[in-house]
Amino acid sequence: MLRIIATFFLLVGAWARADGLPDPLVALDGTKITTPEQWREKRRPELLELFSREMYGRSPGRPQKLVSEVFDRDDKALDGKATRIQIAIYPGGKPGPRMDLLVYLPNQTKGPVPTILGLNFSGNHTIHADRGIRMTDSWVEEPKNSVEQAGVKDHHATEESRGTNAKMWPVDEMLARGYALATMYREDVCADHTPYFASGAQSAFPELQQSEDNFGCIAAWAWSLSRALDVLEKEPTIDAKRVAVFGFSRLGKAALWAGATDERFAMVISNESGAGGAKLFRRGVGENITRLNTVFPHWFARSFRKYNDKDIELPFDQHLVISLVAPRPIYVASATGDKGSDPEGEFTAAKAAEPVFKLLGAEGLPADTWPAAGISAQGGIAYHVRPGKHDVTDFDWQQYLEFCDKHLKAR
Ligand code: GCU
Repeated sequence: MLRIIATFFLLVGAWARADGLPDPLVALDGTKITTPEQWREKRRPELLELFSREMYGRSPGRPQKLVSEVFDRDDKALDGKATRIQIAIYPGGKPGPRMDLLVYLPNQTKGPVPTILGLNFSGNHTIHADRGIRMTDSWVEEPKNSVEQAGVKDHHATEESRGTNAKMWPVDEMLARGYALATMYREDVCADHTPYFASGAQSAFPELQQSEDNFGCIAAWAWSLSRALDVLEKEPTIDAKRVAVFGFSRLGKAALWAGATDERFAMVISNESGAGGAKLFRRGVGENITRLNTVFPHWFARSFRKYNDKDIELPFDQHLVISLVAPRPIYVASATGDKGSDPEGEFTAAKAAEPVFKLLGAEGLPADTWPAAGISAQGGIAYHVRPGKHDVTDFDWQQYLEFCDKHLKAR
């Protein structure tokens, strides 16, 4: 019966706001959510269920069989500035697929430190030229950029690829400002190429590929971030209650879903996550659902395909995912040249999540209209659109670190 009522409301959109977006504070059965308890007990669980069933798919949770082994610890890394720790995580047990977690801790800071955790695109060894980082033996994409091409042979990383992605990861600055950095490689988690679902940690759970709400890559990446947090919780030099989950683009979609599903993350930083991340579908601008499900059929659950070409009448939208992060701080960032991510749609989604942050006692987004390029508006929700293309730049990191200083360091 409940299901029928919920479907009725989904179809008629009776719970929509004046701007046409589903209201985060009206439950599927039409109940108005007016207290933090109602949010926690009714609305948040039903939204998690809705997005797991209809879009991202279901994750296996924390596997009993998970094994983690520290295979490197060097307290004189990066000219003595950092302690480098590398941990092999076998989520489905050993032998089995392995995810390498690389951690840099700042040596000058005493006590457990706040940490930025995020997945990387090309292998841990590409985020810094440090020769102590274990080179990945997972599949690597052939770079389009001619400088980086030298580092990849037949989809395998070579020594020449060390540090090739360092400009997106200001490790030295993070350390100098008292943050640890932890990162893993996306291909250790799921095959972001054909044959899909055949390698990476996701492949240890074939039973989760059988149903319509199958465990897609975005959900697998999000789940892997939670598994990395399980392991970081055991490291006394890390303050696991002050971990910000970060991601760019497809990995930003994953960081957002990780922050939505796992309340242990103290903060979310979504850098140009776009469609399936922070952007609204219902505006009908930028990358649409059909493109996502066609070009990247392994990212979302098969159930999401029934919404192909239905962006504008979608009965849910991404502001609801952002609202699942509340009351924890979230930074949503766009770039003017990243048209596929519909920068204004990312702002509108962040703003539409505001009532939930306020209900839970957090600050909203201190901007009523889409801010001019280069302006960072920072409340409990933060937003900027930076001039330039789809990327992660120093400007982006300056804003994120300032936001971290306010919300993580200040604690
Ligand atoms: C493609 C895709 C985007 C995604 C991006 C990326 O451009 O269409 O949705 O965010 O890849 O991850 O780099």
